Amino acid sequence: MRIATVFASITLLFTLQPAYSAEAAAETRSEVNSPDSDDRQLVAMPDEVRQLMRKDMLDHLSAINEIMTLLAEDNLDAAADVAETRMGKSSMGKHRATGTGPGRFMPVEMRNIGWGMHESASKLSREARDGNLRGAYSALQKVTASCVACHYSYRTR
Ligand code: HEC
Repeated sequence: MRIATVFASITLLFTLQPAYSAEAAAETRSEVNSPDSDDRQLVAMPDEVRQLMRKDMLDHLSAINEIMTLLAEDNLDAAADVAETRMGKSSMGKHRATGTGPGRFMPVEMRNIGWGMHESASKLSREARDGNLRGAYSALQKVTASCVACHYSYRTR
């Protein structure tokens, strides 16, 4: 009798769960897709600056992917290089000479999130250089948390 009850609740769990997550996913999608309910702050910047930022963003995305590949292969030195040169503090200010850097169009809180991302990438690099895989993963999580924080708060168009 008790086993039957356990089975019943397991069945119930399995039938309820997919319906719930499908609903939640649909809700999230429509929130992001509907222009009316997009309550992220619009940050206006000139078109060429936005294009530049878009390129940087795509490079961040592929850098993250490379870093995860290298960490999984235990190639910590190479991961350290990618993290520092592509996303770390030494990657900052590369558009300063041309005056097209997106940073100066960002509200201060947004810029802080960006700085935090570069800080965490440099920390990731240091931890990987020291052979500390756990520390590197922990810093990597802070990097991706910055991606999430900024994307959920701001848009450029
Ligand atoms: C300081 C804010 C900020 C941070 C931090 C940030 N982004 Fe972005 N990103 C943006 C904005 C703003 C856009 C444009 C989104 C929009 O207007 O809807 C964007 C767009 C993108 C795009 C789309 C590019 C395209 O082709 O349109 C990708 C991919 C992306 N970001 C990846 C990342 C990744 C990966 C990280 C973390 C390593 C990251 N971003 C961190 C602000 C940020």
